Amino acid sequence: MSSPNLSQGNSLASRDVKSLIHPYTNLSAHEKQGPLIIETGKGIYVYDDNGKEYIEGLAGLWCTSFGFGEQELIDAAIKQMNKLPYYHSFASKSTEPGILLAEKLLEMAPVDFSKVFFVNSGSEANDTVVKLIWYYNNALGRKDKKKIISRQKAYHGVTVAAASLTGLPPLHNDFDLPIQNILHASCPHYYRFGKENETEEEFATRMADELEQLILEEGPDTVAAFIAEPVMGAGGVIVPPVGYFEKIQTVLKKYDVLMVADEVICGFGRTGNMWGTETFGMEPDILSCAKALSSAYLPIAAVMVSEEIYQSMVRQSEKHGAFAHGYTYSGHPVPAAVALRTMELMEERNIVEHVQTVAPLFKQRFEELADHPLVGEVRVSGLVGAVELVADKATKRSFDASLTLGAKAVGLMQEEGLISRAVAGDNVALCPPLIITEGEINKMFDLFTIGLDRTEGLVEANNWRNT
Ligand SMILES: Cc1ncc(COP(=O)(O)O)c(C=O)c1O
Repeated sequence: MSSPNLSQGNSLASRDVKSLIHPYTNLSAHEKQGPLIIETGKGIYVYDDNGKEYIEGLAGLWCTSFGFGEQELIDAAIKQMNKLPYYHSFASKSTEPGILLAEKLLEMAPVDFSKVFFVNSGSEANDTVVKLIWYYNNALGRKDKKKIISRQKAYHGVTVAAASLTGLPPLHNDFDLPIQNILHASCPHYYRFGKENETEEEFATRMADELEQLILEEGPDTVAAFIAEPVMGAGGVIVPPVGYFEKIQTVLKKYDVLMVADEVICGFGRTGNMWGTETFGMEPDILSCAKALSSAYLPIAAVMVSEEIYQSMVRQSEKHGAFAHGYTYSGHPVPAAVALRTMELMEERNIVEHVQTVAPLFKQRFEELADHPLVGEVRVSGLVGAVELVADKATKRSFDASLTLGAKAVGLMQEEGLISRAVAGDNVALCPPLIITEGEINKMFDLFTIGLDRTEGLVEANNWRNT
């Protein structure tokens, strides 16, 4: 980690510590260490304020699909800024970029959606989803059908409803969450939760059986929807077991429960298809997407809904005088123009085909790490993957949580010039810009492996396996 000069009162690092609250940061550690200040970026690389180069192995926060400095996207923003830097979409107002982007998303969508609603982030998308599900069931006169089932270890964002959907305790503890009507089903992680002698397929069947049991216990008339990421990202890059969504959907259909796909990470090529929904055979009634929608160059996200759900919104707006939901920046023309250009570039540059071409090497390099003394499991889909670090490969015993070994590994990788991320404990993830080449994949994994080897050195030197 670059050592920022906190002793100089006027350095950017010390001004950061004096003025900024950082999201998802240990605030007391930050006061001592200061920030890593990133100054520029090009392709898959970013550079700190000392000029040190890093491979951005997580595409920022699983989002900059085109890497850094893509001139086409910068130009799209400048062009729209000059034409119309802001307008809104309340009360029937509209702008061309919003209309064209909505059309484009419907054309690209994995199933036949009817309409698109724009928001600014994945969290807002999922908060909107929760409200739409309640609105829809009220329109149908189903006053009790309001519960939404998410999953343990799911990540759906941080706003009040989205954080409630998230199935990670730190997002609930002392924030007085989750809110009512949000439930969490079992996490479909075979390596961790599969029983002895249970095949992956049997595990998937059990997950569906447990979901059915939960719906029956709660009462099918009270359960409105089920929300799932195709691959669970921040929960540890958990790839669903074989047959999982097919079995889950059979249960959902039986009890008239909507399926929501959270494509915030998986959408736009990440898993080797345009949508994770396609990779894993999901049939959503509602879909939320964000991040790579604009290659993260500007904040924009979207919710797509079926015709049936849209018609219920029409009826509700007749009843109440308006569909009373929306943001000042819903469909903001500048991020919409950038997102539209991003979607065009996905096609012009055959990004999905590129992912399919380089993903086998990404998988191979990940799988080679399965023999590493620290690695309990390797999980990969397309260009997203993680290793789970364990103290004992045979028993799958984790390291003592207080060691924060995943975070230590990430720190060592950062010293080597690779930015990765520790998620949900000791899972170290990679999710590089989709434009990454095979040569760059090799370079990234060489650094990743050095970081893991150095971590193993620390474990040995400190006898942490027995801590
Ligand atoms: C699957 C998923 N949903 C929702 C979100 C929340 O998105 P945002 O951080 O833009 O609010 C994230 C963020 O990582 C995510 O991974």
